[in-house]
Amino acid sequence: MDTEPKFFETNPQSGSVGQPLDRVDGRAKVTGQARYSAEFNNLPGLVHAVLKTSDVAKGRIQSIDTSAALKEPGVLAILTHQNLPKLAKTPNDAQSKKAIGAPMGFLPLTSDQIHYAGQAVAVVVADTLERAQHAAALVRVNIAAEKPAASYEDPKAELFDPQKVQDGKTPGHTVRGNPKAAFAASPVQLTHTYVHAINHHNPMEPGATTAHWEAADRLTVYEATQGVTRTQKALSTMLGLAAEQVRVVTKYIGGGFGCKGSSWPHTVLTVQTAKAVGRPVKLSLTRPQMFTSMGHREDQTQTLKIGATKDGKLTALIHEKTSTTSPWDDYAEPNSRIINLLYACPTFESSYQLARANVMTSTFMRAPGEAPGSFAIECSMDDLAYQLGIDPLEIRLRNYAEKDPSNGKPWSSKSLKQCYARGAELFGWSKRNPKAGATHDGRLLVGWGMATASYPVHNNQGTARVRLYADGHALVQTGATDLGTGTYTVMTQVAADALWITPDKVRFELGDTKLPTAPNSGGSVAAGTVSSSIYMAAQDVWQKLIKQATQDKKSPLFRAKPADVVVEKGRMVLKSDKTKGEDFATLMKRNEMSDVEGSGNGKYGAGYESGLAAGPADSGHQDDMAGHSMHSFGAHFCEVKVDPDLGTVRVTRWVSVHAAGRILNAKTARSQIIGGSIFGIGCALMEATKRDQNFARYTNATLADYHIPVSADIPEMTVEFVNEHDPYINAMGVKGIGEISMVGVAAAVANAVFHATGKRIRSLPITPDKVL
Ligand code: MOS
Repeated sequence: MDTEPKFFETNPQSGSVGQPLDRVDGRAKVTGQARYSAEFNNLPGLVHAVLKTSDVAKGRIQSIDTSAALKEPGVLAILTHQNLPKLAKTPNDAQSKKAIGAPMGFLPLTSDQIHYAGQAVAVVVADTLERAQHAAALVRVNIAAEKPAASYEDPKAELFDPQKVQDGKTPGHTVRGNPKAAFAASPVQLTHTYVHAINHHNPMEPGATTAHWEAADRLTVYEATQGVTRTQKALSTMLGLAAEQVRVVTKYIGGGFGCKGSSWPHTVLTVQTAKAVGRPVKLSLTRPQMFTSMGHREDQTQTLKIGATKDGKLTALIHEKTSTTSPWDDYAEPNSRIINLLYACPTFESSYQLARANVMTSTFMRAPGEAPGSFAIECSMDDLAYQLGIDPLEIRLRNYAEKDPSNGKPWSSKSLKQCYARGAELFGWSKRNPKAGATHDGRLLVGWGMATASYPVHNNQGTARVRLYADGHALVQTGATDLGTGTYTVMTQVAADALWITPDKVRFELGDTKLPTAPNSGGSVAAGTVSSSIYMAAQDVWQKLIKQATQDKKSPLFRAKPADVVVEKGRMVLKSDKTKGEDFATLMKRNEMSDVEGSGNGKYGAGYESGLAAGPADSGHQDDMAGHSMHSFGAHFCEVKVDPDLGTVRVTRWVSVHAAGRILNAKTARSQIIGGSIFGIGCALMEATKRDQNFARYTNATLADYHIPVSADIPEMTVEFVNEHDPYINAMGVKGIGEISMVGVAAAVANAVFHATGKRIRSLPITPDKVL
């Protein structure tokens, strides 16, 4: 293992970067002090709204009778498509949708059209939640129902090729080399189809909005969102206001997994409701409404063809995907991205097909594309290994990609071999019986499976502000959000080390559009982008103090060139003579400076070496990154025990080893990987939302019927990280771990089930009926 890099010194007297510092927001959370978006209850005159939704998936509203509901005590208003205050823009046309940045090209309550079951048809507002719920039950909605299309399996669903849709985001056709000819000429050919159930994000905290018009043109929204800036943009565009007139605040989030990565209809409907009643309004989605209000992972089928040589070297990969989308959108998870780059393969082709059905739009859900894509490629690699009698780990090593096959670029760093080796050692992989269906524990069948994980570092940037006070404390601010994964904690650590103070001296603030702009916490970008912004802002503070020192007659650095001064262990010292220098506080006190403020911009591709040399807030080295492909990598190892009579699968051992650049906090990072792996085990064995094929309506839209793993389903998990220095990604060398944690998990489980039973199950989730 490498030693700690020089570019960012950790402070041993503090809970320094990399150390398992306890969550700085832990106490606020467990004592109820932490306020989530539906908990700003002290706003003057706050009232409650609930959504009334349609059970019908397709049709037109004939009439809405609100008369009985309006007579109930405490009811303030009922908004429908007939009286919703008009918006400056709705996402209902493609151009406005783009301007808004909306995930959906359709806003309920703007017409009489019903496009999906669960669509809001009315918002009911009352002085208490119970009165609003009661009144909503009294609203009579008469819908002329038509026969809906339910999914891509429905012959009524119109199939189309999204490459013809010019939105620049939908994955289209990708071809590298001549895969069809290569496949035809391959001595080993596999063709398999993989099916993925609908999954829902189901964060603990539902979607929630508290909207407060402080004046006719000034709005504050407390919103359960992964990105305050994106929400501000969406709302201000729809309302026809300037961005500054809309403030979005998100101090705490109870999980998101992607469903809080965009703004959805309930948010703007709550805002318009608050405008209509002239009081602050709070709306929290119910658990069933969470299944039709904030997207889901689409139902999809993939066919993967693998061509290989007799010694297991890939020659061709051909991937096709079909999935369901809504009547107006064209989102598809980009599954082929990971298939194109995971292994050295000279040819590749992918294509996508979408089916229009009467469903809520699907959206990104943890590791969008990589999660289902890895299920296909990693199961097929396992098949190839068995077919050729090669160990599953060995076949992956034979196809190890030394550079990115999808674009030919070198990796900025890749420590996958170390992940494989360490994972195999921790798991005891070498003791595996190569034969499937041959290992027993009493009457149970035992299976061992493994899979590779990878996730890209996405191009992103953010900003932060750091204010260092002469008394040795600091205020650090950025408009990022903390999904509950530890952003508050790791950013406190980064600031503490950069300023050489202890974490308790750092006050870190996030989740507000009044703070410096940061990207959505999504796509695993927050840790790298935000930490780099803070580090750059701290460097800006350094530079200002160095300049001051070189102009201060009483400083040992007087008349030194600022470029000859470096910061080491919280001291400004001469590069040539490190005994010469002083610390920040000494300089600031002598100069009667109460504080110094710096701002910084953390950028993708601005590596730490250039970052340090560049000085204040200038890490723009986009050209540095262009030459590299940036991804994190990892490996999962899984043991299952299968009951041959009941078909039940239990995960009994788990090992994950990942390499993702610098790990900011050993404890929160481990939790993040455990959480993601459990998320993946849920997807592998339990999670499925069932859509009725006649009514296009979900039949199990509650947490009682949509099964997710509980503690009893999960064994003790072993998680390790390979220490990895990546000088190209960003100023902190952080790749991010939010999504990679679940990539490959379903395949590792499915591969273990195959090893246990000899039965290959290519349809998720792997429920007992499929095992038997
Ligand atoms: Mo994540 S699915 O990018 O929030």
